[in-house]
Amino acid sequence: PAVPAREAARPEVTRRQFLRSGMYGTIGLFAAQALVGAGVMLWPAKVSGFGGRVLVPKKLSELSPDDPPLKVREGKFYLSRLPEGVIALYWKCPHLGCTVPWNESENLFHCPCHGSIYEKTGQNVGGPAPRPMDIMAIEIDGDNIWVDTGKITQRPRHLP
Ligand code: FES
Repeated sequence: PAVPAREAARPEVTRRQFLRSGMYGTIGLFAAQALVGAGVMLWPAKVSGFGGRVLVPKKLSELSPDDPPLKVREGKFYLSRLPEGVIALYWKCPHLGCTVPWNESENLFHCPCHGSIYEKTGQNVGGPAPRPMDIMAIEIDGDNIWVDTGKITQRPRHLP
């Protein structure tokens, strides 16, 4: 039987060509994923927000040891100015993870969940908390205070 002219003009895609193009497509997809992954890894570190470096909104010279701890929402920490320096305290309770508010009248951190109490240094002084509040790494740059919210540790506090 005669092949219609339109069908005869259409290039025929063989099974092999079809499979080959599928294979190239899959390889291309893997390569694209690898490139995106490498890009994410090599992208500069975040400079704000939780998990990155956060610039404390007050200068070191503006802070007094008499001030209550400064709550820095962006990095989920308190910055406590002590007579001997500054310390960044992760605001999650080491007991079971509630956010610990500063209680102005008690001059202490007082966890509302199970009653753990911490001094301005983060030292636990009451309640079920098994240890002091966690601290974040601090970098003093002139009068600026940077806190690395990705480095939460129990190291001794940083002194400028
Ligand atoms: Fe803070 Fe339990 S979570 S005392």
